[in-house]
Amino acid sequence: MASESLTKKALNKSYPGFEKENNSKWEGPFYFIQGADTQFGMISTFERDSNTGWEEEIRLTKKAIQLINTMTPKPKFFIVCGDLIHAFPGGKDRLAQENDFIKVFKELNEDIPLICVCGNHDVGDTPTPTAIQGYRDKFGDDYFTFYCGGIMCIVLNSQYFQDPSLVEDLAEEQTKWLDEQLEEAKSGKYKHAVIFQHIPWFLENPDEEKDYFNILPEMRQKMLQEFYNANVRTIFCGHYHRNAGGFYKDLELIVTSAVGCQLGKDKSGFRIVKVEEEKIAHEYLEFENAPKNIIMK
Ligand SMILES: [Fe+2]
Repeated sequence: MASESLTKKALNKSYPGFEKENNSKWEGPFYFIQGADTQFGMISTFERDSNTGWEEEIRLTKKAIQLINTMTPKPKFFIVCGDLIHAFPGGKDRLAQENDFIKVFKELNEDIPLICVCGNHDVGDTPTPTAIQGYRDKFGDDYFTFYCGGIMCIVLNSQYFQDPSLVEDLAEEQTKWLDEQLEEAKSGKYKHAVIFQHIPWFLENPDEEKDYFNILPEMRQKMLQEFYNANVRTIFCGHYHRNAGGFYKDLELIVTSAVGCQLGKDKSGFRIVKVEEEKIAHEYLEFENAPKNIIMK
C-alpha cells in the first residue's frame, strides 16, 4: 500500500499561510471550526463482532466536511484536535487509516486549511522517536504556532506532558520552544492567545484528581499558571469523546466531543468558534443543527 501524506501541513513549527508576518494584525471578527477525534476505526473496535472497518467514521467525517464546505462566509480553518485515527503507530490498519484520513480530507474546500493536532492514538500512549517522526512525515509538525487574523494559536503535543519517557529530548525541545512562544504571547501584541491540544488539562475543575482523560495535577497546575501569565485565556481540547470544560481563573478550557465515536450523550459534531475583539464565543453543534450562514457581529 502506498503511503500518502497531507499536501499542506505544519512545517518549521509554523503553518503555511498563517505566519506571523501576514497574520498578526486584527482585521475584525472571524470564525473557525474546531473538531476532535475523527478517530477512524474506533467505532468498530467498540462493537464486538463488528467487521465494518471505519466506514462509519468516514461517513461522519465526510458529513462534517460537507457542512463546513457550504458555510458562508467560509471558516478561516478547520482544526482537528487529535486522534485523527484509531490504530496506534505500527498497529494493524494504521497505514490504511492514515491513507483514508488523508483521502477523505481532500474533499475539504481548498480555501479552508485543515490543521491537525496530534492525539495519543496518533503518536502512541508512550510515543517513540519513530512514531513522532512518522506523524510529522504524514500530518506535519506535532507542535507549532500559527497566527490568524490577529490572534496567536499555539498547538501542543500533549503526549509530551502525559508520558515523555521514551522521547525526553523531544519533550524538552517542545518545552524550550513553548517558553519562547509564551514570551511572545505575553508581549500583548495579539487580541487573543489560544492553545490547542488533544488531552485536556482537566475536564471540569482544575482541582480534580487524575483520571484517564486528564493530565496529572502537579503538571496541570504548573502549566495552567504559565499559560495564564502569558495571557492565554482559551484552550481547546478533545480526547474525552464528550463535551466538557471549565475555568482556571478566567482562562476557559473547552473539551469538544468527537466527530466520530461518542462515549456520552452528545452526538457527532464540531464547534463553531467566533473570534471577536473582546471575547471568543463558541458553540458545539451536532451535524443536524449546523447552520449554513454564519452570522458575525
Ligand atoms: Fe480519542
